[in-house]
Amino acid sequence: DESKAGVKGLVDAGITKVPGIFICSSEELDRDRQNSNEPTRTHFRIPVVDLKEVRFQRAEAVSGVLKAAEEVGFFQVINHGVATEVLVGMLEAARGFHELPVEVKEEYYSREVNRKVKYGSNFDLYESSSANWRDTLFCVMGPEPLDPQELPFVCRDITLEYSRQVHKLGTLLFELISEALGLKPDYLLNMECAKGHCLLSNYYPACPQPELTMGTTKHSDPDFLTILLQDHMGGLQVFHQNQWIDVPPLSGAFVVNIGDLLQLISNDKLKSVEHRVLANHIGPRVSVACFFTPHLYPSMKTYGPIKELLSEENPPLYRETSVQDFIAYYESKGLDGNSALTHFK
Ligand code: SIN
Ligand code: FE2
Repeated sequence: DESKAGVKGLVDAGITKVPGIFICSSEELDRDRQNSNEPTRTHFRIPVVDLKEVRFQRAEAVSGVLKAAEEVGFFQVINHGVATEVLVGMLEAARGFHELPVEVKEEYYSREVNRKVKYGSNFDLYESSSANWRDTLFCVMGPEPLDPQELPFVCRDITLEYSRQVHKLGTLLFELISEALGLKPDYLLNMECAKGHCLLSNYYPACPQPELTMGTTKHSDPDFLTILLQDHMGGLQVFHQNQWIDVPPLSGAFVVNIGDLLQLISNDKLKSVEHRVLANHIGPRVSVACFFTPHLYPSMKTYGPIKELLSEENPPLYRETSVQDFIAYYESKGLDGNSALTHFK
């Protein structure tokens, strides 16, 4: 079964043309793709927040996070406390999984909703207009501890360690964001923003016709917050002030972005912005995304704009929504480039 071999399987089979299901509409390709021959029209750079002195200079970190989360929705963090060996080891192990023989990988191939560890291409394959040039290993890491035996052996130990450390960083970021919103440090944690988290290890093989497809179609993330580790290849872009801006690989850094649910509960104060990954002639590119999201476990909670943030001048922009309704809507619409949030206004 070819699909179990993933996009990597197509490349390994020696294809020289991108199959039809991967070809994006010309609208998506022409309107959005920044012409790489054109000099960049902006000097804008994705903000970098240094967490080194966060224990002693809290206010600086909080204001850096606030500015980035309000104005851009994306930032990088450095001196975040996760050891370089763990970052390097995680990227290597993610690559190691995707480069296993198909017979080993296919044990993890599944489209089953409740399986905690699964590998495949394109969760939205049946809803989207085109498929993405990437394969993904998906692992639900919390709140229930995962049975380590469920993880592929090549990435087992490092995934557990990475997950622990990234979850800890997520906790710190939720504290800083709470403070940035003028709330008590544990406010967002008490709302269970860090209760559920999963890891997506993405593998973007070299593409014979990168001008016809996308590594990842433009989308915003459906979660509260995403912490992303990318390798040195580049290709991630963020839509900011009507232009696609590169998120340059910064060795040892994490890319952090606000998701739709955090935009919703902050009543649009914090921005969940569109981003995408370009396909590339050279590869592979590897990234590992940690999603903080409540849709990984049975949650009875509903989410709406935080009461403390509302006033007569700042009325609620969204209705209360259950986790299930939000995710069901997001998944049903596919990665079509339109924000799911407008549906909950
Ligand atoms: C994504 O946003 O889904 C992928 C980001 C990346 O691979 O850099
Ligand atoms: Fe994303």
